[in-house]
Amino acid sequence: MGIKSVLKDDEIPRQWFNITSDLKGVLPPLSLNGEPVKPDDLEVIFPKVLIEQEMSPDRWIDIPTDVVETLLKWRPTPLCRAEGLEKFLKSPARIYFKNESVSPTGSHKPNTAVAQAYYNKKEGVEKITTETGAGQWGSALAFACSLLDMECKVYMVRISFDQKPLRKTLMNIWGATCVASPSPETSFGRKMLDENPNSPGSLGIAVSEAIEEAVSDKSLRTKYSLGSVLNFVMLHQTVIGLEARKQLRSLGEKRVDAVIGCIGGGSNFAGIAFPFVGDKIEGQDISIIACEPESCPTLTRGPFVYDFGDSAGMTPLLAMYSLGHRFIPPAIHAGGLRYHGASPLVSKTVNEGLVHARSFRQSECFRAAEIFAKTEGIIVAPETSHAIACVIDEALKAKEEGKEKVILFCLSGHGLLDLKFYESHMSGESIDFKLDEKTLKKSLGSIKDHPKPIIAC
Ligand SMILES: Cc1ncc(COP(=O)(O)O)c(C=O)c1O
Repeated sequence: MGIKSVLKDDEIPRQWFNITSDLKGVLPPLSLNGEPVKPDDLEVIFPKVLIEQEMSPDRWIDIPTDVVETLLKWRPTPLCRAEGLEKFLKSPARIYFKNESVSPTGSHKPNTAVAQAYYNKKEGVEKITTETGAGQWGSALAFACSLLDMECKVYMVRISFDQKPLRKTLMNIWGATCVASPSPETSFGRKMLDENPNSPGSLGIAVSEAIEEAVSDKSLRTKYSLGSVLNFVMLHQTVIGLEARKQLRSLGEKRVDAVIGCIGGGSNFAGIAFPFVGDKIEGQDISIIACEPESCPTLTRGPFVYDFGDSAGMTPLLAMYSLGHRFIPPAIHAGGLRYHGASPLVSKTVNEGLVHARSFRQSECFRAAEIFAKTEGIIVAPETSHAIACVIDEALKAKEEGKEKVILFCLSGHGLLDLKFYESHMSGESIDFKLDEKTLKKSLGSIKDHPKPIIAC
C-alpha cells in the first residue's frame, strides 16, 4: 500500500457533484420578504449561471473546459497518508489527508474563485467585490481575477487584517485592493465604526460592505462574490472529495470510516464530505464530522433557523444554523471560522443526522497543529487545526477500540502566513474563549426580528 496518491491530469473531475437531490427532505429555499427567492432577485449581485447552479436539482453539473484547464495548474491535489502521525499516536488507524494547501494561494479557496471569476467575466462583469476572514478567500479571488484581467476589491475583517498583514500584500501582488472592515468606505462600515471605533469586525460585516459596494454600481459591471456558504460554492468544492474517493481506492482502501473537515461557512467541509455523504445515503457506514471553534459554535449551539447571511441584513434569509447575524465572534486566530452561520446545505445534512458537528478549544487545536507539524512537517492554517484535533481524537478512539479505522480529512490550507497563531501559543498566551450563555442568548435575539421565520428557533 503506497503512502500517497497523485492522479494524472486526465483523471481530474469533469463534473461537480450536487448533493441536493440526494437529501431526504427538501432544502428550504433562500427567502425574501417571506417568499422563496426568484432568480431575478439575485441578478444584481451574481451572474446568471451561478444563480442557476444555486437552484439546480441536477446531481452532476459539467465543469467548463476553461475552468478545468486553470484547475490543472495545481489539481488533482495529492492524497497523503499521515504515517508519522499514526506512529506518534500508536494508533492502528490509517489516516489520510487531502492536501489543498498546494494551490497557488495555499488553500482550497481557488477551486471556487476560478469558477466564479470565469462566469462573471463571461457575463461582462469587470470588477468583483468580496469579503475575507483570514485572507485566504481574498487571496484566492485576487489570484483568479488577475488570471482574467478583472478588478478585485476585498473587505478584510479588521482583526485578521491586523494579525495577517502579509495576506494583504499577497492580494496586492495579484492586483487587488484590500481594506480593513469595518471601513469608512461604505455606509454600513461607517455605522459599525460609529458604534465601535475599535470593532474587530466579522465576516458578516465584511459581507455587508462588499455587497453594498457591488449594488451601488449602477452600471452593473460590478458584482459580488462569496467564498463559502452558498450552494454553488459547496458544489465547486466537491472536486476535493471526488478526487479523494478515487485516490483512496487507488491506494487499496475499500472503505472509509470517518471523513473530517473544519467548518467556517462550510466550503472545504462540503468539498471533502459531500461525495461521501452521497455514499452514506446509499447505505455505507461513515462517520462524517464538521469541526468548529468553541468560541463560534454555530452548528453545536445555534438553532436551525432562517437568518441573514450578513450583519446588515442585505442578503436574503438562509435556512441554516446560526448564532444570530449580529454575532461578533471573539478574536481567535482561525479568522476563516469566525462566521455566525453555516452553509444551508451543510446545515441540512447536520439536521438530517448525516453529519455530526463537534467544537474544539483553540489551545487543543494548536496542540494538534504542533503535533502535525512535528510528525508530518506541514504547518497548517489555524482553521485546519480544528480538523486535526478531531482526527487525533478519532485515531485515539480507534486505538482504544483496537480497530483499524480509515480516517480521511481535508488539509484545507497551510499556515505559513499564520505564524502568529503558533507564536502566541508558544509564548504561553491564553488563547481560549468559550462563548457564554448570556452573550449567545443576546445574539440569538436578533434572529427573532425577521418577518415570517419558516423554521422556529
Ligand atoms: C484554510 C482555511 N480553511 C477553512 C476555512 C473555512 O472556510 P470554509 O468553511 O468555507 O471552508 C478557511 C476560510 O477562510 C480557510 O482559510
